[in-house]
Order: sequence, then structure tokens, then C-alpha cells
Amino acid sequence: MTLIRPTLPDDVPILVRLTEETGIFRPGEIKTLDEVLAQAVAQPGGEGYHSYTLEAERQRIGFSVHGPNTMTEGTWDLYWIVVRADCHRAGWGGKLLAFVEDDIRKRGGRLIVAETSSLPTYEPTRKFYLKHGYTQAAVVPDYYADGDSLVFFCKRLR
Ligand SMILES: CC(C)(COP(=O)(O)OP(=O)(O)OC[C@H]1O[C@@H](n2cnc3c(N)ncnc32)[C@H](O)[C@@H]1OP(=O)(O)O)[C@@H](O)C(=O)NCCC(=O)NCCS
Repeated sequence: MTLIRPTLPDDVPILVRLTEETGIFRPGEIKTLDEVLAQAVAQPGGEGYHSYTLEAERQRIGFSVHGPNTMTEGTWDLYWIVVRADCHRAGWGGKLLAFVEDDIRKRGGRLIVAETSSLPTYEPTRKFYLKHGYTQAAVVPDYYADGDSLVFFCKRLR
């Protein structure tokens, strides 16, 4: 059985570990994720973080975090979307992404922005966004580090 539901406090260490195990994030990013998820479960929704956990056969195999940019008219940031490494390319990420897009649409969102890296290790991520109708909107060269640029992907919901 598959379930996408709000993230709960006891999910946090499991979700942080499965993110670490993808092997692509820096230690600082993992620390930030821990803080973001703690905040998401303490004060879920509203103008803050909206986090959802994906369960398959009672195992937590992925999650997402999104939230509105309150300085815009209907722009939402997709901060995190992660699927456990041994479950990649089986459609789970796509299911979670569709859920997030529906959630944002229901809340009146107009545009989704996702940030990622230009490094080769993020090629699956960039392909994932392109496959799901996102457009590469901008690149900030050497943003994360020399040779590691920031790539913005966008999708209009209406
Ligand atoms: C991005 C991510 C969530 C996708 O999850 P997923 O469950 O593999 O996604 P799906 O199975 O629904 O989609 C598969 C599509 O993603 C892309 N993709 C995923 N893995 C890929 C790989 N190893 N090589 C090339 N493309 C890949 C392809 O477009 C693929 O479509 P295809 O199989 O038809 O070629 C997952 O790869 C992940 O957790 N990555 C690490 C975390 C990350 O980078 N998150 C985003 C920034 S927070």
C-alpha cells in the first residue's frame, strides 16, 4: 500500500538518514534539512514548511518539503524532494511530485521553483524535473562552489 501523508516527528531521523544515504548532499545541507524538518513538524503548513512523507508497504521511502514565497503572488518553492536510493526510477518521485503540485494548486499556487546543482551527480535530478514538465529558467554560475552552479527549474501551474 502507498500513502503520502504529513511528515511526523518520528519520521525526521529516518528521512534525514535516507537523504544522507543518497550520497550527493554536503554535510551542511544535511544539517539544514534536519532543522527544516524539525520546523516543518513543529509548525506545519501555513506560510512555513509543508512536508509530506511517502510510505510504501509501511516503509518510509521518500519525502518532500515545499512552502510559499510570501513576497510573491502565488510562487512556491520546492525545497526538497528525495526518494530512498534503492527505490529510484520506479515512479515514486513522480508520484510525490504530482502530489506536491496538486497541494500547491489547491492552495492557489501559480508557479513552482526548484533549485538544484549543475554537478554531474545531480543529472538524474535535472532529468527528473525536465521529464515532469519543468523548464530550466536560470543558472547562477559557481553559486554553491567553484564549478558547482545553481540551476533553477520552474513550472507554471496555471
Ligand atoms: C530526483 C528523485 C527524487 C527522483 O525520484 P525517482 O523515484 O527516481 O523518480 P521517478 O522514478 O518518478 O522518475 C524517474 C525519472 O527521473 C530521471 N532519473 C531518475 N534517476 C535517474 C538516473 N539514475 N539517471 C537518469 N535519469 C534519472 C529520469 O528522467 C527518469 O525518467 P526515465 O526513467 O523515464 O528516464 C531521486 O532521484 C532522488 O531522490 N534524488 C536525490 C535527491 C535529489 O536530488 N532531490 C532533488 C533536490 S532536493
